[in-house]
Amino acid sequence: VKRVRTRHFQNAKENGIKITGLTSYDQLTATIFDEAGIDFLLVGDSAGNTVFGHDTTLPVTVDELIPLARAVAGSAKRAFVVADMPFGSYETSPDEALHTAFRFMKETGAHAVKLEGGVRSAEQIRRIVSAGIPVMAHIGFTPQSEHGLGGHMIQGRGEGAEALLADARAVEEAGAFAVVLEMVPSAIAARVTEELRIPTIGVGAGPHVDGQLLVWTDWAGLSTGRIPKFVRQYADLKGVLADATKAYIADVGSTAYPAPEHEYPE
Ligand code: KIV
Ligand code: NA
Repeated sequence: VKRVRTRHFQNAKENGIKITGLTSYDQLTATIFDEAGIDFLLVGDSAGNTVFGHDTTLPVTVDELIPLARAVAGSAKRAFVVADMPFGSYETSPDEALHTAFRFMKETGAHAVKLEGGVRSAEQIRRIVSAGIPVMAHIGFTPQSEHGLGGHMIQGRGEGAEALLADARAVEEAGAFAVVLEMVPSAIAARVTEELRIPTIGVGAGPHVDGQLLVWTDWAGLSTGRIPKFVRQYADLKGVLADATKAYIADVGSTAYPAPEHEYPE
């Protein structure tokens, strides 16, 4: 199988082919999603919520994400693997950003990094890209700044539209190969998508974007918290696993499990 590369993202936009992405944090899901044909896997700092059980992504560290990114990058044969740069690992300076990007590239085998912020992160993006590392940008609602933004708020509404467009132009100009638009009104996402040369990847940004990305545990009905309005649940893994757990407990209690076929002869 041929690896997806940044030029495939660009070709997809130019040919009107939608790009698909899911998050992944481990070997099991990376293998399944990759073999099913997903274009890219994001080792998101959403691991803070989905793997580590925090309320936000803020506590996640580079040292925590690196083993997850290594597992995903080591498992995906075709998908393009993007490692998310956590809060506090790139904001201080372009040098700090490049240092963190080097760690992900050298220690995990990921193919690109992602960081949050438009205008405010442009110099960081430029520096990382100049070292030959592809950058996926992320604008609109940026979870690492949820306290600064005043909660999980839709971005780009009303007067915010111009600021969002400025962010989009800034990351393209800085050399990002794609940009995630999170929780943005569909009409604004459509405007950004039309204006930019690079592909837009929507997370709660409607259909008029170049690709879609979802947190896999939301998408598969595994998450326990509140599921955002923009998610369609493609499976009910929570129900499947809860039922399996109850059946297992009952079978062990009644000695229906293990059955003769599970036993080793002498
Ligand atoms: O960490 C993550 O999963 C993300 C996506 C939701 C954009 O950044
Ligand atoms: Na993230």
